[in-house]
Amino acid sequence: MNRRSFLTLSLYTSALLLSGCGTSSRVSVTELKPIKNRQLPIPPLLDPTPDDQGVKHFNLTIQKSFHTFFDGVQTTTYGINESSYLGPTLLMKNGDRVKINYTNHLDETITMHGHGMHVPAQMDGGPHQPILPNATWSAEYRVKQNASTNWYHPHFMGKTAEQVYYGLAGLIIVEDKESSQLNIPHNYGIDDIPLVLQDRRFNANGALDYSPSRREIMHGYQSDIFLVNGAIEPTFTAQAGWLRLRLLNGSNAGVYEVGFHNERLFYQIASDNSLLEKPVPLTSVRLSPGERAEIIVDLSNDAGNTLILKELNHQKDLLTINVSTAFGATYTLPNQLTTLVKEDPATAVRTRQFTLGMQRGTFTINGQSMDINVINEYVPIDQVEIWEITNSMMMPHNFHIHATHFLILERDGSAANVLENEKGYKDTVYLPPNSRVKVIVRMRDYADAQAPYMYHCHFLEHEDHGMMGQFVVTP
Ligand code: C2O
Ligand code: CU
Ligand code: CU
Repeated sequence: MNRRSFLTLSLYTSALLLSGCGTSSRVSVTELKPIKNRQLPIPPLLDPTPDDQGVKHFNLTIQKSFHTFFDGVQTTTYGINESSYLGPTLLMKNGDRVKINYTNHLDETITMHGHGMHVPAQMDGGPHQPILPNATWSAEYRVKQNASTNWYHPHFMGKTAEQVYYGLAGLIIVEDKESSQLNIPHNYGIDDIPLVLQDRRFNANGALDYSPSRREIMHGYQSDIFLVNGAIEPTFTAQAGWLRLRLLNGSNAGVYEVGFHNERLFYQIASDNSLLEKPVPLTSVRLSPGERAEIIVDLSNDAGNTLILKELNHQKDLLTINVSTAFGATYTLPNQLTTLVKEDPATAVRTRQFTLGMQRGTFTINGQSMDINVINEYVPIDQVEIWEITNSMMMPHNFHIHATHFLILERDGSAANVLENEKGYKDTVYLPPNSRVKVIVRMRDYADAQAPYMYHCHFLEHEDHGMMGQFVVTP
């Protein structure tokens, strides 16, 4: 049996096992009712415990759990700490020393990767840092990056898609001096709200159904049942003031177009890894899997009104926002949010090509499928490079690079095609069918000739089926 069919088979087997014990009640799929008027769950902030060296310890325990998606149905999930689906939010400041302790109480191996975190390769939580059942693994580092909304999720070879599907993911919010002094909402859970957007399939019993066919592995495993922070079409009561939303596309393979009904105007203020230099007015934002956007919507004149946040490709409601008559804080949006330090493309030492494709039924980058024993690229520390990524296929992909944050220089050969709201630092870039992007990267820190980082398509079925490669940062 080749590696590919083995992986596919093991996915099926574990999905069957899971759905077998998934629910206690027997209801047919037509009887499954999302909970009415469900309040938006807000992932709790996890209080770190500082030790006497000043290191903040965050303790996360992963175990099987039950989550209520539908009225009267307990669905088997993977939970983190007290949360039965999606873990708590870790809040860090630039410069903090942190130690995140992940303890795995599942009966399968996982990893936990800090997506968007600029950390040494040994602390990255990729496929090379497995956490065996009943083991603890720690990511210990000094936070060294801009304010941004990042996230943690499993990254175990061939199992990422399934483990994320059952609920393993959470947010890591980084604040810095600049961002905390900005005149924008900062009250987590009040006017600064994380929204983890996902789509999920359920079987007739209300069990999560992760069982992709070959075709669904090709096109990505998708559904038109949308979850926001683990709830189906929940409701949030906002104050009549400014509302800051931190959007994460945490789906396996859905490319979302997110906006309010009635083409309501909002401002995007941050991309994956930094503030945008200027707020960008929009009526919708496209997010492919793994991408983030922070947006601000002014509700100060909306007391008593209702807004619907929608996924516009499917015309589906994500979140109902009821604006109360309680008056919230209003601000004046600064014209300039930040000044980004940018590398000069003229100083680039080389250009690397990455072509996303498919060969003999498996996904490839530059004609090669992910092989954990192969280092695909050696990237010298501190050199400016252009990475040119080509999607040679008729289907969408994206491209995520660990360790670093990049700026997009060109789309399809022209700087004019780069969208205003993708001009901040990014770690994941969307690639429509038959398209090309050029990004500028520099590996600033953490040379390690042994431990690799990953680059890959963040459509999780593609990542799990070969569309990933490894690089080391060389001294
Ligand atoms: Cu979000 Cu390589 O991961
Ligand atoms: Cu990542
Ligand atoms: Cu892909």
